[in-house]
Amino acid sequence: MVKASDFKGKDVLSMRDYGREEIDFLLDKATEMVPVAEKGSTLLRGKILATLFFEPSTRTRLSFESAMLRLGGSVTGFSDPSASSVKKGETLEDTIKTVENYCDVIAMRHPEEDAARRAAAAAKIPVLNGGSGSGEHPTQALLDLHTMKYAKGKIDGLTIGLCGDLLYGRTTHSLALALNHFDVELYLISPKELTMKPDILKDLKMKHTATTDLKKVLPKLDVLYDTRIQKERFADPVQYEKLKDAYIIDPKLVKSGKQDLVVMHPLPRVNEITTDVDAMPNAWYFRQVRHGVYVRMALLALVLGAL
Ligand code: NCD
Repeated sequence: MVKASDFKGKDVLSMRDYGREEIDFLLDKATEMVPVAEKGSTLLRGKILATLFFEPSTRTRLSFESAMLRLGGSVTGFSDPSASSVKKGETLEDTIKTVENYCDVIAMRHPEEDAARRAAAAAKIPVLNGGSGSGEHPTQALLDLHTMKYAKGKIDGLTIGLCGDLLYGRTTHSLALALNHFDVELYLISPKELTMKPDILKDLKMKHTATTDLKKVLPKLDVLYDTRIQKERFADPVQYEKLKDAYIIDPKLVKSGKQDLVVMHPLPRVNEITTDVDAMPNAWYFRQVRHGVYVRMALLALVLGAL
């Protein structure tokens, strides 16, 4: 039996660290946070979250901060490492050993894949991985699952398409690892240059099919999880230009799918979903954002031992 105390003082680094029971428990705790988010709470009064973002972010940083504030806690941190001592050459480990004196929990994002693990090894307080290079983004996977469950009433039994940049897109890596624990069928839709990262692909246990043809598989899908081509991870800008418009989701394409197709996207979108999809009932990507607050409220309360 999973208990709240199992998460106390623990880091959140990778979806590899969670089984079905832990995931179900976390999703239930996030649901319990829905009314709390509306009303506000003093559960984490006196606690401080530091958000250390070494890479750009809108949703992840602000939703961690919103989650902490809604629970009565406080927030400090930086979103521009060039204005911190990182600029002077301070190591990640030294930054962490300093910042942990100012706060009770750290949420961080970093361009290097092993950064969250290194930070967690240096820190005595919990570290929550808000995106580690083209590695993982576990809190996003939990909010994606929470949204899916809310939109479809279940996760088991769904046919899900992950589309776009499956090589560099860390959200698809964490989501695929999380979906390993559900009875789902997966379509991995990408240009051949951006197929699912090998160390994730080799561990997928569910039935999965790789394809380049979105139009062909779309009618089979219950959920289309689209992603941005990750420009900043390309060594060659010409290659990015060639692949950036590989898939454009427009109303015509959405209408060619099931009537109740759920279209998700971690955001930011560039131009892979046209804005005239936004008003369709199938568009879930802005509603998805809200679920990030519930999930991060639950995680903060759990790792700080308040539940
Ligand atoms: C994603 C990320 O940073 O990995 N954004 C997010 O956290 N919602 C997706 C992306 O940047 O494409």
